[in-house]
Amino acid sequence: MTSDIALSPLLIDGEWLATDRVYENINPSDTEERVGRFHLADAALARRAVAAATLAQPAWVDQSPQLRAEVLDRAGSELLARRAELGELLAREEGKTLPEATGEVQRAAQIFKFQAQQALQAEGELYASTRAGLRVEVRREPVGVVGIITPWNFPIAIPAWKIAPALAYGNTVVFKPAESVPASAWALVDILQRAGLPPGVLNFVPGSGREVGQTLLDDTRVRAISFTGSVATGQRVAAACSARQARYQLEMGGKNPLVVLDDADLEIALDCAVQGAFYSTGQRCTASSRLIVTKGTYTKFRDALIARVAALRVGHALDPDTQIGPVVDEAQLAQDLRYIALGREEGARLAVGGELLHRRRPGHYLAPALFVDVDNTMRISQEEIFGPVAVLIAADDAEHALALANDTPFGLSAGVCTGSLKLAHHFQRRLQAGMVMVNAPTAGVDHHVPFGGSKASSVGPREQGTQARQFFTQTKTSYIRP
Ligand code: UN1
Repeated sequence: MTSDIALSPLLIDGEWLATDRVYENINPSDTEERVGRFHLADAALARRAVAAATLAQPAWVDQSPQLRAEVLDRAGSELLARRAELGELLAREEGKTLPEATGEVQRAAQIFKFQAQQALQAEGELYASTRAGLRVEVRREPVGVVGIITPWNFPIAIPAWKIAPALAYGNTVVFKPAESVPASAWALVDILQRAGLPPGVLNFVPGSGREVGQTLLDDTRVRAISFTGSVATGQRVAAACSARQARYQLEMGGKNPLVVLDDADLEIALDCAVQGAFYSTGQRCTASSRLIVTKGTYTKFRDALIARVAALRVGHALDPDTQIGPVVDEAQLAQDLRYIALGREEGARLAVGGELLHRRRPGHYLAPALFVDVDNTMRISQEEIFGPVAVLIAADDAEHALALANDTPFGLSAGVCTGSLKLAHHFQRRLQAGMVMVNAPTAGVDHHVPFGGSKASSVGPREQGTQARQFFTQTKTSYIRP
């Protein structure tokens, strides 16, 4: 056990607050190490945060957009300057490797710098009226108070890509991070606050979904909820928001196919499969959890992939040799193991991995698991596992592979590996997903272009890039007789 770490407080109305509830976050690479201690909010404090955000919103939108841009840009600069230190913190609390974690902090920095500029972009349109002497002005205005609820797998990038546009467009925010990763979230809030946010513009209320999350969903002053997480929780967000006519944006699960066609470059396809399925410990909603391979290359691809997966180095997130970090926590590990057992019961063949690993320090280490000769109708092919577990499915030909790829309730990301421009175009058009990757992994996206899925993966306007304004602003149409 490391020496005692100071308690990190909540942020409400510009004041750092202590409570009598404390959460201790544990390093999944070394469960004897405590990463930090955090005060937790309850429903009453969440309501106070909403009140503060409500009070702060009119002045924040009336601020010069230049000031909003500068605050966000400053936060981006500090994130960039501290990316090594914050990357280490993130790796310690979430378990992704140091390069993955540092890359995530850098991405958060880029998001703040990009969205800072959006605060200054033209925000409306002028029209002639059908009536003489009138003109029409369409302006984009902020929605008001936004509730932001984020998952544990991207502890700093997902908060960044929701908070940055929310603030850039003049909204105020109540932010509830995932319970298990408060340290990166706290660091981000601290940076933003010191960058010059007025009191109440950003409020930080870590706590349980049942209490804090539910309060944000039910409070009529919260005009919009941006949520990333599980399908089950997303459905609760949708039900609560539609019952009181609040807007919502949901980014949920995936069961993303990576199709490998006979004419694919084998090395590129293997890289895409290994990187997409297993890096970040498979804990990405964009992970390539279904690998669909046409029969001309199936055996060759399968055997090469088994060798590649068997050689992956699983270990402590901070160890420079590690390629795959631990699973985030006990509950997720139990879910991964349940699905591995289920796959066997369903008759799939576990070709490699799936066993617990022991390392120098006690942690949630799981050997990356690959099921081969799998049927797409099995539950391990249809349900999101969210761990280092992938299935390999054989297809008769390209059309069959496409049909299998689309035979899923989800539609976040989908990939195809092929040397044919014609087939690449065909798949690009026909894959049912919000994002399509050609000869590239299904996971790992740019920050300046739309992010989101179709079917059961996403609801509401896209996130990121300039499209983020769809959700974080609403139009007002004015008819003016000068
Ligand atoms: C990525 O693949 O770069 O939770 C991002 C997730 C997604 C983010 C994926 N919302 O995994």
